[in-house]
Amino acid sequence: MSNPDQSPHYEFAEKYDPEHAREYFDKHGSGFWRRLSTWREIGMARKALRIAGNPKSVLDLPCGTGRFWALLCEQPDRKIYAADNSQAMIDTGLQLRPPEAVARIAQAFQCSAFSTGLPDDFVECVFCIRLLHHIQKSEDRIRILKEFARISSGTVIVSLWVDGNFRAWRHRRKQERKARLRGTSGPRDRFLLRQEEIEAEFAAAGLEVVGHADFLKYWDKWRAYVVRPTKN
Ligand SMILES: C[S@@+](CC[C@H](N)C(=O)[O-])C[C@H]1O[C@@H](n2cnc3c(N)ncnc32)[C@H](O)[C@@H]1O
Repeated sequence: MSNPDQSPHYEFAEKYDPEHAREYFDKHGSGFWRRLSTWREIGMARKALRIAGNPKSVLDLPCGTGRFWALLCEQPDRKIYAADNSQAMIDTGLQLRPPEAVARIAQAFQCSAFSTGLPDDFVECVFCIRLLHHIQKSEDRIRILKEFARISSGTVIVSLWVDGNFRAWRHRRKQERKARLRGTSGPRDRFLLRQEEIEAEFAAAGLEVVGHADFLKYWDKWRAYVVRPTKN
C-alpha cells in the first residue's frame, strides 16, 4: 500500500481487500449472536448521536461496508459522507447496502484517518466506529484524534475498548495467561485502553468529553465516546 503522507503503518489495515470486504459484510449480517451484537452496537451509536445533538452533517470514517448508513439516514435532513482507507470496503457497501441508504451518501471517498486532506470544520460530526482499538501507539491515536478535531465543527464520536467492565477484566486475564504459558501474549491487532488513558489522549488532541454510550454497561468493553474540539 502506498504511504505518501507518512501515515504510520498498521498491518491490520492491509487485509481489507475485495474478498475480505465481502466476508466482513456477510459476517456482520449473519448468525443470531452477531446480529444481536450489531443491533446493540447500533443502539450504542444511536445514543452517541443523540448526545452529540443529532448532527446535521456526519463523516462516517472508517465507513467500512456501511454498517451504520441506515442509522445515519434516520435523520432525514442529515448530509452523510462516507470514507475509508480501503476502496474495496467502500465499493462493497455501495454495491450491497439498500439503494435508499446509498442514495443518501453525498460523497464516498478513500482517505486515511491520519490525514484526510479535508478542510477545517468539514462536518458537524466525525463518526468513527471500530478503528481506534486497532491503533496500538498512543501517539498515533492522538494524531488521528487531532485530525478529527480539525475537521469537525461540532463533535467527534469514537468507539473503542475500555476497561472497567467484566469483558475487559476477562480479556486482560486471558492475555496474562497466554503470556505466562508462551512467554508472550502473541501478536495482537486490537487493544484495550484504560479509561483514564484515552481520556488523557482526548485532552492531548484538543478534545473534551461530552458523554459516552456503552454497549452494555459493566459487562462489555465497547464504548462510544462523544467528544468536542476545545477550539470552539
Ligand atoms: C473493523 S472495520 C470497521 C468499519 C466500520 N466502521 C464498521 O464498524 O463496520 C475497520 C475499518 O478501518 C479501515 N481503516 C484501517 N486503517 C484506516 C485508516 N488509517 N484510515 C481510515 N480507515 C482505516 C479499514 O479499511 C476498515 O474498513
